[in-house]
Amino acid sequence: MSEWHAIEGLTIAIDGPSGSGKGTVAKMLAEETGLPVLDTGLLYRLIGSMAREQRIPLESESTLAEFVGDLLGLIEWTVDGIYFNGKNITNTLRSEQAGEAASKVATMSLVRKKLIGLQRQLARNGCIMDGRDIGTVVLPNAPAKFFLTASVRERARRRWSQLKNESGSNLGEVVAELKMRDQRDTERQHAPLKQAADAIVIDSTTMRADEVVDRMLGVLERRKLIKTSV
Ligand code: DC
Repeated sequence: MSEWHAIEGLTIAIDGPSGSGKGTVAKMLAEETGLPVLDTGLLYRLIGSMAREQRIPLESESTLAEFVGDLLGLIEWTVDGIYFNGKNITNTLRSEQAGEAASKVATMSLVRKKLIGLQRQLARNGCIMDGRDIGTVVLPNAPAKFFLTASVRERARRRWSQLKNESGSNLGEVVAELKMRDQRDTERQHAPLKQAADAIVIDSTTMRADEVVDRMLGVLERRKLIKTSV
């Protein structure tokens, strides 16, 4: 059993670029604190994949925003991932194609606005939320914000070792793809990836995930946001 418990309703924001380890670290932190994890990237992945499947042009902001409005009632977003029409489709959403479509629809302000309400509603009872704009836009009042980063080469290496068995891509291709996604995420006009002024930056290039989690737990304990259970 975990040594810690979180104060009631605690929200923790974890932002950072693709492959920085947000998902892994968020899960480990959840095990330590008992808080649920919500991966906001899945929402954008769902919209991107569904739009592609239904041949909705990924460039048309108003059509896409309307489409999101229609989909919202069919989405169930839980700690186990995303359910669409009652079916858990999280694993399909982890594909590279879904990530690519997500990063396109995520550039649109109307799409983002439609998803903010859902994200805030789920955060109400406390959670660890990971994404790109959690500390800056979705939960600006979160009492703990972390910005996780790592060198592009290290992030590509991590992703490549995950993908190796499924795709024929080489490390160079993964580096190029990540650079393109970084550029799209950081240079977009609406809610670009950037650290909140009050976020704690952790560069995980040479750190193991458990070391990152220890650092986070230290911050949470010093701020009295978590307490020992014993
Ligand atoms: O974290 P991820 O790879 O699942 O995210 C997929 C895409 O969605 C990524 O290009 C950035 C975008 N995204 C976003 O713009 N805002 C978020 N809160 C989460 C993800």
